[in-house]
Amino acid sequence: MNLLEAAKNRKSGTLSKWENYFREYDTYFAEYRERPIRLMEIGVQGGGSLSMWKEYFPKAKIVGVDIDDCSRFATDDIEIFTGDQANPAFLGSIPGTFDIIIDDGGHTMKQQQISFKCLFPRLNEGGMYVIEDLHTSYWPEFGGGYTTMSFLKDLIDDIHDWARKSHRASFFRGRLRHFHQAKTPVDNGIRSITFADSMCFIKKEHVEKGKQIKLS
Ligand SMILES: C[S@@+](CC[C@H](N)C(=O)[O-])C[C@H]1O[C@@H](n2cnc3c(N)ncnc32)[C@H](O)[C@@H]1O
Repeated sequence: MNLLEAAKNRKSGTLSKWENYFREYDTYFAEYRERPIRLMEIGVQGGGSLSMWKEYFPKAKIVGVDIDDCSRFATDDIEIFTGDQANPAFLGSIPGTFDIIIDDGGHTMKQQQISFKCLFPRLNEGGMYVIEDLHTSYWPEFGGGYTTMSFLKDLIDDIHDWARKSHRASFFRGRLRHFHQAKTPVDNGIRSITFADSMCFIKKEHVEKGKQIKLS
């Protein structure tokens, strides 16, 4: 069963996702399908996406987060928390760690970036953080300024901090110590950052960076 079929087989609720997301999720979520994962989705609305995730990940425990009261969508396997995704104290009050976190909430720059900074550290090793609807980075009414796209591009630079540091050491002997500082606070434990239309998949895995294998 692919994700679109899971959506059609969902037990309850309405849902709304862009068509290409289903394809991307089938690619990046395959490895989690049969595992007893914990999944958080920010943005519950009609409840159907939580029900779809439960179909797709039969052994999962699901946590839904919304600023509006969506507690009517709670089941044995679906827990609902009501609060603002841009409030670190609220996010901190949600217990546990997660294997998958999907941000499909309010899509403002502030909401996306605060949620990521608060929740990426709560992702288990091997987990995946997804931000949906990144096209709002190009729509000023969602906050503008330092957009989430810019933030994610800086994150790409920051996972290559080992290269910046080694370049500094060999060529500048520390003189430009402050030239390339990591701009984003989350530069640890990111194995890969993958973009698709309007969405980004950030995989957490503490792999040694900048390590070569030489075979002769
Ligand atoms: C796009 S809808 C979610 C759709 C749902 N995930 C689906 O696939 O059908 C966005 C939801 O985010 C919620 N939301 C907006 N701002 C929020 C915030 N600051 N914190 C948490 N949820 C928020 C809205 O109430 C709305 O229900």
